[in-house]
Amino acid sequence: MSAPHPLEVPLLTRRLHQAGYDGSLAAYRAGGGYRQFERAVTSLTPDQVTDMIKDSGLRGRGGAGFATGLKWSFMPKESVKPHYLLVNADESEPGTFKDRLLMERDPHLVVEGAAIAAYAIRARQVYVYVRGEYRHPRACMDRAIAEARADGLLGRNLFGTPYSLEMHTHPGAGAYICGEETALMESLEGKRGHPRPKPPFPAGFGAWGMPTTINNVETVATAPVILEMGALEYRKHGTPNSPGTFLVGVSGHVKRPGVYELPLGIPARAVIDEVCGGVRGGRRLKAFYVGGSSTGLLPAQHADVPLDHDSVRKLGVMLGTGGLVVMDESACIVRATMVLADFYDHETCGQCSQCRVGMEWCYQIIRRIELGQGQPDDVATLLDLIENFAGGKTICAFADGAAMPYRTAIQAFRAEWDEHVRRGGCPFAQSGERALEAVHA
Ligand SMILES: Cc1cc2nc3c(=O)[nH]c(=O)nc-3n(C[C@H](O)[C@H](O)[C@H](O)COP(=O)(O)O)c2cc1C
Repeated sequence: MSAPHPLEVPLLTRRLHQAGYDGSLAAYRAGGGYRQFERAVTSLTPDQVTDMIKDSGLRGRGGAGFATGLKWSFMPKESVKPHYLLVNADESEPGTFKDRLLMERDPHLVVEGAAIAAYAIRARQVYVYVRGEYRHPRACMDRAIAEARADGLLGRNLFGTPYSLEMHTHPGAGAYICGEETALMESLEGKRGHPRPKPPFPAGFGAWGMPTTINNVETVATAPVILEMGALEYRKHGTPNSPGTFLVGVSGHVKRPGVYELPLGIPARAVIDEVCGGVRGGRRLKAFYVGGSSTGLLPAQHADVPLDHDSVRKLGVMLGTGGLVVMDESACIVRATMVLADFYDHETCGQCSQCRVGMEWCYQIIRRIELGQGQPDDVATLLDLIENFAGGKTICAFADGAAMPYRTAIQAFRAEWDEHVRRGGCPFAQSGERALEAVHA
């Protein structure tokens, strides 16, 4: 990785900008690695660690933006049952690829962060559930865990205290739904990855029925940074309600796609134009998915929106997982939505009929609009369908997530949808049948 862009604030990624940094245990420790875990175990109580994370205002980076310290505080304080920490490394959201960077390039940061989180929630077992297709990231994590164990950083009676901790990776089952926290637990237990109804919530009844906390890779990787710099210093970055930095994975029609660590609240336009060098090929920006496909898209006129939880919510979208997908004026919004509809149709677990049937109908309707067989009522039918499966009507948030790109694409680009229907086909090059062939190639 080269020098950081002037707008970047490399807290989690600072080692990655050092020449020759190889992510090994020796390199990680040379930069002060594992000191915060040792400090936590030897001189802080689990509640003190949790309070520091609470004070930092850290919000989960797995999509919902839930307050991390608060989540940790839900775990029982006096319990004879085993506690588990599950690190969610399933990363299957279209447009999101930032956890992979941490696991491949700085796996010990993830191990140390998970160890600190485990200590805070009184867990002695951590499972890192890694997306099935992520064979290399998982191998990096396995190597780091083995190195940490060999160096006495995992195992029994750590740093001469009664605290013991074990950590393992577990391969994901190759399904997007397995990233949903309760489906993840089912999958980890060896069952089909079907989400569970909530309540009961994981802190009371989680993996194997035991108290469990599930956190995203980036969330846990932020813990050593906060302990090292202090909550107040961390809060100097970002916004009051979305403090700190976040990893933004930018893809699509920009000159310099990649993963960048940026302060929360940075305007999307600054990310696209300054950090990523602007839209490629001299074209104009058309739209962008804010933080992964399930967060919805915004048209170019909203590019000045600050990327923090509250600001994007005011525009009807979510911050999600920092997966910013940029589309220039040559992109067909109907085609882009069709590609996603194909994905959601394939990935619904099928437990809830609204989701199982709704995903298929949406895909069929969007597909026929793109292929020039749209009916005059199709867009209205789509909107009606969306309202029938979205809004908390299903066991998990999958259907609400799928509704976001459909609803926002229609709201912002209604004329483009109507034009497809009116002219009986797609007005853009590289679309229609050829788009479908490309999707299934
Ligand atoms: C369909 C679906 C897929 C999800 N996939 C992921 C994922 O791959 N990684 C992730 O961290 N969270 C994912 N989540 C969110 C998790 O359910 C959970 O909120 C998150 O892991 C909590 O971590 P955090 O508090 O650190 O953000 C997904 C949620 C849904 C509904």
